[in-house]
Amino acid sequence: MTKLKWGMIGGGEGSQIGPAHRLGAQADGLFEMTAGALDHRPEVGRDYAQRLGIAADRAYGDWQEMLAGEKDRDDRIDLVTVATPNATHFEITKAFLEAGFNVLCEKPMTMTVEEGEEIVRVAEKTGKICAVNYCYSAYPMVRQARAMVRAGEIGKVRLVVTNFAHGHHGDATDADNPRVRWRYDPAMAGVSGQFADCGIHALHMASFICDDEVEKLSADFASTIASRELEDDAMLNFRMRGGTIGRLWTSSVAIGRQHGFDIQVFGETGGLRWASEQPNQLIYTPVGGRTQVIEKGEDGLYEDAQRLSRVAIAHPEGFPLAVANIYCDLADAIRGEARDGLPGAEAGVRSMAAVETAVASAKADGVWMDARPPMFR
Ligand code: NAI
Repeated sequence: MTKLKWGMIGGGEGSQIGPAHRLGAQADGLFEMTAGALDHRPEVGRDYAQRLGIAADRAYGDWQEMLAGEKDRDDRIDLVTVATPNATHFEITKAFLEAGFNVLCEKPMTMTVEEGEEIVRVAEKTGKICAVNYCYSAYPMVRQARAMVRAGEIGKVRLVVTNFAHGHHGDATDADNPRVRWRYDPAMAGVSGQFADCGIHALHMASFICDDEVEKLSADFASTIASRELEDDAMLNFRMRGGTIGRLWTSSVAIGRQHGFDIQVFGETGGLRWASEQPNQLIYTPVGGRTQVIEKGEDGLYEDAQRLSRVAIAHPEGFPLAVANIYCDLADAIRGEARDGLPGAEAGVRSMAAVETAVASAKADGVWMDARPPMFR
């Protein structure tokens, strides 16, 4: 099978998420890196792209040049990844979809619900794939959890509790560090800080495993460091369409917690627990029974969990291979075999609706509000 052609915008040298995309896209031999506009400094981006093996004529200075250069080629890229800072996602994603490219956009997909709805419409109209990189949902044992819930192994889900709380912005003496400060500045980050950055991963995960959507929510936001305009800590209560009760805590000042992303799902006949710092294990307790550790790679896992495991049992598979699983599902989708686990533009706009609703609810002292995007009400 010939490799698909892949390009990336953003994700330049020294960026946080760029390496995970390069490793992920190329891990299974499904994509080759063919084009890129990797940096906000055109010459730096061109140089880095060529050092990564991209031909000089496809090492672009910016995304507009890349769009113009790729769109009329016979051998144009099959997929473009948008891994730039948040405020640029909408215009780049929209422009590439409209020109007939498939897109993988980093989260958050857009800055507003209106923009998110526009992306959903453009993707529908063009028939192109618009995926959003909720990569934690592609860990094999998260797929196992989802399959177990779908198969009724824990009965009807009563309660989901999730945290994405780390402590890496908890040092007040480091609050003015430019790499930290922009996240709490509305001019750079938008209406929400920590919730839009990390909380939406947790909320997406709750929907993903429970196979349900958030319908309404109540939020409490706090800026624990006085100079921060946007929240660095948030607590949400939510309800899902099927009646499941949800609790979510996200924080960047939880000193001592490292990555800090975990989820527990409690059903009528059992409970499940998964944590990103021990991603190969899913903890399962049937009601009245013993707690069991289900290991990635063991016999009897659901198909999706088996398919997305590569190395043998007990060997760790980490974050870049979870991103690689998103690319596996994308390659299948581009070749015409849609995978229902691939997070799409609908997931992206649902997150934006949750962000705007949480901001409004927090401002109104936690009033419960409809958290669905208008287009899905
Ligand atoms: P970063 O600041 O570390 O790197 C951004 C990169 O984009 C730099 O190489 C910069 O030169 C380049 N860039 C900026 N503007 C550009 C433009 N207009 N054209 C081309 N290149 C441009 O940022 P980081 O942390 O890598 O985040 C990027 C995106 O990835 C964000 O939207 C963030 O939310 C998301 N992200 C997602 C994660 C996940 O788990 N899915 C984890 C970390 C980040």
